[in-house]
Amino acid sequence: MALQSVKGFKDILPPESERTAAFEVLARRVLEAFGFREIRLPIVEAQELFVKATGETTDIVEKEMFVLTDAGGRNLALRPEGTPGAVRAFMQHNMNVQGGRTKLYYVGSMFRAERPQAGRFREFEQIGAEAFGNAHPSADVETILALARILDEAGLKGRYSVHLNNLGCERPECRPAYRAKLLEFLRTVADTLCENCKRRLERNPLRALDCKGDGPTIKADPRTPTLTPCAECHAHFETVKALLPSGGTTFELDGGLVRGLDYYTRTVFEIRSADVGSQDALAGGGRYDGLIKSMGGPDVPATGWALGVERVLMALKAAGSDPKPPQPQVYVAVQSESPELEKAAFSAMQLLRSHWRVEGALFGHSLKSQMREADRLGAAVAVIFGPSEFSEGKCTVKDLRAKDQQSQTAIAELEREIRSRLSA
Ligand code: HAM
Repeated sequence: MALQSVKGFKDILPPESERTAAFEVLARRVLEAFGFREIRLPIVEAQELFVKATGETTDIVEKEMFVLTDAGGRNLALRPEGTPGAVRAFMQHNMNVQGGRTKLYYVGSMFRAERPQAGRFREFEQIGAEAFGNAHPSADVETILALARILDEAGLKGRYSVHLNNLGCERPECRPAYRAKLLEFLRTVADTLCENCKRRLERNPLRALDCKGDGPTIKADPRTPTLTPCAECHAHFETVKALLPSGGTTFELDGGLVRGLDYYTRTVFEIRSADVGSQDALAGGGRYDGLIKSMGGPDVPATGWALGVERVLMALKAAGSDPKPPQPQVYVAVQSESPELEKAAFSAMQLLRSHWRVEGALFGHSLKSQMREADRLGAAVAVIFGPSEFSEGKCTVKDLRAKDQQSQTAIAELEREIRSRLSA
């Protein structure tokens, strides 16, 4: 059989590649307007980084990592998410600005050995933002507003929901007390739980709320205890809820939202779309105040998110906000095969490409087939070099949208002529 791409890994062909690139440009612009600066992180990290940061009992670490061993016997992994790498880089390069903030974003492939299905791939692209150094709820709000702004500007305004929850902190009276209460309850229903939930019950009972099978039943059970956050976590979350609407973002409180990663404290959120089927999470994130310290770094609070580019593009398609692929604006042809005309056509293309998308150079073909290609590509204007006009320093400009609009132009005036045609 002919060689094929590996299951769960895909080629991104035009126009999908162009939609992806256009979305990346938009996201970068918005993130930079919010003061985030790009960090480019390695795709391969020590496996241990993800075990420590993402969490030993997460699905990602338990069963979804692509691991490899290098020649020196070191255990490495393809990054399944960007947060651990960003935290490692932040620590390794002493990026902690004393009393200040470090706001970073990244764009790139992540790898998870999940069962592939619509909207779920083994290599997928994330755009992520991480804000280090601001413990105030305004940092949660600002990062969420940046995310919402990206989705709105891309064309999803009003087509997604923001789900918000408070996960509390590690103070004994906060999440640990809740974990104990939840565990006590789950033990009473343990025989009804799925194998996964049973297995990780003692180590991470909160994950039962996140389980695709058990989660909905547990959340619906009135006996399931809910978190009573400590005073600080309560106040923090109240401020988040009060400030978020000022940026025009509405949200839904979702007490069962625990997220599949272990590092979160206080605010967590997920953005879901009703347009994309079962893999409906377009983005997710939250605060992770304890992570950097637990990795051996300074005691720096942090908050962030990552969005799934493929899922956002699927949602945009479903919303009908599917931008047209770029078409050449100008097509340059020659009437007959002649080195003189072809040279002139090449210099015209070089010149015009400073301003417009230009296609042409199908020399050696009849003018008819060159014009057929111009039509097929959707070019707006054709420039034709023919021997008789050329001898007078001219060429023909043809408006392909209004078929009868054809005129001769001095080659020296070509740029101006095209500008006026395209602006007509
Ligand atoms: P996450 O929820 O695991 O969070 O992933 C974020 C987004 O990546 C998801 O909402 C989804 O759109 C996309 N995604 C995840 N897995 C796949 C997949 N297999 N195929 C396609 N898309 C996928 C994180 O990764 C955290 N690092 C977010 C974060 C940053 N939290 C704080 N800072």
